[in-house]
Amino acid sequence: MALQGCTLEADLVSLRETIHTQLENYVSAASNPGLGDCPETLRESVAYSLLAGGKRLRPVLVLLACEACGGDVDAALPAACAIEMVHTYSLIHDDLPAMDNDDYRRGRLTNHKVFGEGLAILAGDALLTLAFEIIAKEIQPGSVAAACCADLASAAGWCGMVAGQVADIEAENREGTLSGEHVLQEVSDDNLIRSAALAQLESIHRRKTGRLLSSAVTLGARIAQVSQESLHRLEQFGNRIGLAFQIADDLLDVTGDAKKLGKGVRKDASLGKMTYPKLLGINESRQRAEALIAEGCQFLTPFGDRAGKLIALAQFVTQRDH
Ligand code: IPE
Ligand code: IPE
Ligand code: MG
Ligand code: MG
Ligand code: MG
Repeated sequence: MALQGCTLEADLVSLRETIHTQLENYVSAASNPGLGDCPETLRESVAYSLLAGGKRLRPVLVLLACEACGGDVDAALPAACAIEMVHTYSLIHDDLPAMDNDDYRRGRLTNHKVFGEGLAILAGDALLTLAFEIIAKEIQPGSVAAACCADLASAAGWCGMVAGQVADIEAENREGTLSGEHVLQEVSDDNLIRSAALAQLESIHRRKTGRLLSSAVTLGARIAQVSQESLHRLEQFGNRIGLAFQIADDLLDVTGDAKKLGKGVRKDASLGKMTYPKLLGINESRQRAEALIAEGCQFLTPFGDRAGKLIALAQFVTQRDH
C-alpha cells in the first residue's frame, strides 16, 4: 500500500506481505494437499485473481481496527483474508460481460478473459464460500466467529453489496428516474431532482462498496472483543470511509491513469453509470469525499494514538491515485 509521505508506509507494506502470504497458503496447491476434489482449473482461476495484488485495503483495515482496539492482530488474519476473498469475488463478477464488461483488473486481464465466463462465475462462488469456511473454522471463540460471519454476510449480501450492485445496474442509463418508479421529470424543482438523485446515488454506493468496507473495520473490532460503544464508533468511521472510497473510485474513473489503477478508465460514462462526478462534478465530489473522511475520523477521537494508523489509512482513501 503506497502511502506517500506517510510514516506508516513500512508498516503497511509489511501488513500487505503478511496478508499476501496467508492468501497464498489458502489457495496454493502445495499448502493444501486436501484439495483433491477441487478441479485444478478452478484453483488456478481463484488464485489468478486473489493473488494478483490490489491495495488490500479491506484486510489491512481488519488488522488495523483490531490493533486500534487492543486486540491480537495475528488472531484477525483469517478474517482479513476472508474479506479479501469476498471482495475479490465481487470484482470477478463485477467485471463480467453481464455486468461492467471489463477487460483489465489488478493489472492483468480479467478472470473471464483468461478462464471463460463459466469458470469466472464459479471462481467467485468458491471465494465467497471459502471466506465463510475460514472464519467459521479459524476465528476464536465460536461466538465471535458467528458474529463475524453474520456481519460479513450482511455486508456482502442481498441488502448490502449485492443490493448495491443490483441498484447500480438498474440505475444505468436511467438518468432522471428514481428507483425506476417515480419519473423525476414530473418534479419541476431542479434542486429537488438533484437531491433525490443524490440520495439514490448515495444509497447505491453505501451498499455496493460502503457496507463491505465498514464490515472490515467491525470484523477487526469484534475479534478484539471491544465494547458496544467502541464497535459503534468504528462502524460510523467505516460507513464514512466506505462511501468516500467509492466516490474516489468514481473520480479515478474520470481523472485516473489506467496503468496506475490496473483497470480500465472512462468506463462509467460509456456504461451510463450514475456516479458522483456525473452528478456533482469533480470538485464537489472531491470535497464531499474529504468531508466524509474528516467526519469519520472524528469518531476515533477516544481511541487516541492507537487509531493513528487507521486515520492515516483513511486519508489515503481520498488521496490515492490507484
Ligand atoms: C475496487 O476496489 C472496487 C470498488 C469497490 C471500488 P479496490 O480499489 O479496493 O480494488 P483492489 O482490491 O485494490 O484491486
Ligand atoms: C464495484 O464498483 C463495486 C463492487 C461491488 C465490486 P465499480 O464497478 O465502480 O468498481 P470498478 O471501478 O470496476 O473497480
Ligand atoms: Mg460495477
Ligand atoms: Mg466495475
Ligand atoms: Mg468504478
